[in-house]
Amino acid sequence: MTRVFSGVKPTGHLTLGNYLGAMRRWADVDQHKADALFCIVDLHALTVDHDPARVRRLSRQGATLLLASGLDPELCTVFVQSHVDEHARLSYLLECVATDGEMRRMIQYKEKAAREQARGGSVRLSLLTYPVLMAADILAYGADEVPVGDDQTQHVELARDLAVRFNQRYGHTFVVPRATHPAVATRVMNLQEPLSKMGKSDDSGPGIVYLLDEPDVVRKKVLRAVTDSGREVAYDREAQPGVANLLEILAACTGGNPSDLSGVYETYGSLKKDTAEAVVEVLRPVQERHKELCADPGYVEGVLRDGAERARAMARPTVDAAYRAIGLLPAVTDIAVSAGR
Ligand code: AMP
Ligand code: TRP
Repeated sequence: MTRVFSGVKPTGHLTLGNYLGAMRRWADVDQHKADALFCIVDLHALTVDHDPARVRRLSRQGATLLLASGLDPELCTVFVQSHVDEHARLSYLLECVATDGEMRRMIQYKEKAAREQARGGSVRLSLLTYPVLMAADILAYGADEVPVGDDQTQHVELARDLAVRFNQRYGHTFVVPRATHPAVATRVMNLQEPLSKMGKSDDSGPGIVYLLDEPDVVRKKVLRAVTDSGREVAYDREAQPGVANLLEILAACTGGNPSDLSGVYETYGSLKKDTAEAVVEVLRPVQERHKELCADPGYVEGVLRDGAERARAMARPTVDAAYRAIGLLPAVTDIAVSAGR
């Protein structure tokens, strides 16, 4: 059976971009067709300036929202990365396979490091090595598919490269994974800056729709979205990025196709109005379920406890095999176990 792994960082409140680009498909498609694991990748939240209490709070909220978006612990494994030691254990081995040049070529590293330096801050070493930890997340579970938004393509490519290189040097150990993307809304853009991704850690609140925004807040944000100077509603990402973004959001929410939808609207106003309502309707059941789950925190904790246990059992044999393959002497207990076999 296909194995799927994906994750979301607790660096901010989850957005419509996370939902349409990733989470919705995890719930609608991936958990049904595959042996799937979904992870709150909290170690990744420590790669930039962070507040410990906030990371804890966002990790709990993120897990609750994964369940609210329809992930069913009977069908898939939902867990927190730091509860399973194998991620950090494997990450070090992969650092011994990856190169410095390869890390410095990562677009997200270059962008985030430049932003941090412009602010006069320092760049954490973990920001540079972060894609290796992400590769470890994926390879530890032998995932075939990694369903992500478009911004993660380069990182999944790195995971592929590291898997192939490790296998060539040390013997076949890892499954070589590939990224999968949704048909539309693979990159939802900020409503105020349609040339930038709608990112949860960005500061520009008015351009970001959060999953837990009240319906009126959602309407206000969509109705105030920046559109383009033309008048015509056309689906053209280059010439009309603001309008194209709205058409993609509407298409993703209603199951349509952005270019067909562009023919339906004569004015930006009517496009915005329908998009706002479509987003409100898509978020409604998630918000209702989130409210129910918040009333039962013990349930979410139980899901995470069981999830971590299952995940550990899945990752351990692969990571142990990688330790042996790369030349590390097995611990005495392992020798005893293998001698007894
Ligand atoms: P992150 O927020 O970086 O932890 O991302 C979690 C998942 O959501 C990843 O698969 C991302 O590719 C996806 N994602 C985040 N922001 C967007 C966006 N604006 N549009 C589409 N997908 C997104
Ligand atoms: N780097 C991903 C992001 O920023 C999150 C992530 C970490 C991830 N580990 C992963 C996604 C493994 C898929 C698989 O969105």
